[in-house]
Amino acid sequence: MSPVIVTTKTAENETLIIQRPTSGLSLQGSIRIPGDKSISHRALMLGAIASGETTIEGLLLGEDPRSTAKCFSLMGAQISELNTELVRIQGFGSNSLQEPVDILDAGNSGTTMRLMMGILASHADRFFTVTGDSSLRSRPMSRVVKPLLQMGAQIWGRQNNSLAPLAILGQQLKPIHYHSPIASAQVKSCILLAGLMAQGETTVTEPALSRDHSERMLQAFGAKISVDPDTCSVTVTGPAKLHGQQVIVPGDISSAAFWLVAAAIIPGSELTVENVGVNPTRTGILEALEMMGVDFQLQNQRIVAGEPVADIFVRNSPQMKGCNLAGDIIPRLIDEIPILAVAAVFAQGTTVIRDAAELRVKESDRLAVMATQLNRMGAKVTELPDGLEITGGTVLTGTDVDSYTDHRIAMSLAIAALSATGITSIHRAEAASISYPNFIATLQEVCRD
Ligand code: S3P
Repeated sequence: MSPVIVTTKTAENETLIIQRPTSGLSLQGSIRIPGDKSISHRALMLGAIASGETTIEGLLLGEDPRSTAKCFSLMGAQISELNTELVRIQGFGSNSLQEPVDILDAGNSGTTMRLMMGILASHADRFFTVTGDSSLRSRPMSRVVKPLLQMGAQIWGRQNNSLAPLAILGQQLKPIHYHSPIASAQVKSCILLAGLMAQGETTVTEPALSRDHSERMLQAFGAKISVDPDTCSVTVTGPAKLHGQQVIVPGDISSAAFWLVAAAIIPGSELTVENVGVNPTRTGILEALEMMGVDFQLQNQRIVAGEPVADIFVRNSPQMKGCNLAGDIIPRLIDEIPILAVAAVFAQGTTVIRDAAELRVKESDRLAVMATQLNRMGAKVTELPDGLEITGGTVLTGTDVDSYTDHRIAMSLAIAALSATGITSIHRAEAASISYPNFIATLQEVCRD
């Protein structure tokens, strides 16, 4: 029997209802996941500020990259319709963005807002206003405003320039060496993008290495980038001239993570997730699953347009055990912590996640939301100031839960629901389309007998 997976819609919201068949279910076959969100944003942005044509194959057609495309179109970049995964951009080179005639709306996307601010701050004599949805307007922007001000930017915003809406008057920026207090690829990328137009070397040093897609792609577009892995430092030398490129976007490991965990916890499952980006700054999830005893293999490993890619075969792993996650691994699995919390419920023993306070300022407070929603289903999750403690081995029971309009929460709860008894209703599940437009269709497909 197939599970019941249906949605009910009102004008604003969608509820995803999941009921596992009493005879059980398993995940079988081979699936492809949508393009990597981080790489998609960067390809659109670099294409917009490079000279000549950029083609992007495999772009994520989710709401977040659409926000990026809309903002840069409003500033004069010619971006083809985002209705196929092959997108063309005609950029007009450095310093060519026009002052937009309207507010730039980043929607739900922190990456759009933070990276774009680095670019805007360096476009001298043009005025920009950036805003976002209610979640984004409550997320901290001082982490990028502060270094940009040090570079000579002019920025004004709510609550002492820390919250959007923000207004930016572009300037000729000066290079800095910034020691970021947090390991954040958004902060690092914002500063590197601002440094493209500053005269000299702009360096960012992080406490631990965050995802390095900006470094890789900036180099491919022709910027002079040097990386010192020992000190977690990256330097860009400005002024840089970027040239349009052909970008091939691999599948998003953060989206693959839902299926890896689902197949690991659901009896009898054997699933291949194809074309997954396995950049080492993103594979903390694989290390965590290995620690938990999940049976998976990387197959067909290859390099595609400068990024490592593999197919991942995973099978049900009934002997999963809890693990401790803290320190340098956290930035390398930061977006996978909600689904790892679900995995931990199905592992024997305790899983402790620390050093993850950043999760409180994502699209929702992911520590609080995962703890409350999984506990509603019968899990034993304790919220820590900077993490979660999960006692595995409890049985989940379907009930009403809420995504809090956070895409990764919606999808994590859907996987939890597949393994619960009874009926689970996930409210505001439409949030999944931020990073995974076909998530529900794939869920229905993969769970068929
Ligand atoms: C991202 C970086 C991470 C991640 C986000 C995407 C990026 O955020 O959580 O989903 O594309 O640079 P932080 O850099 O703020 O940790």
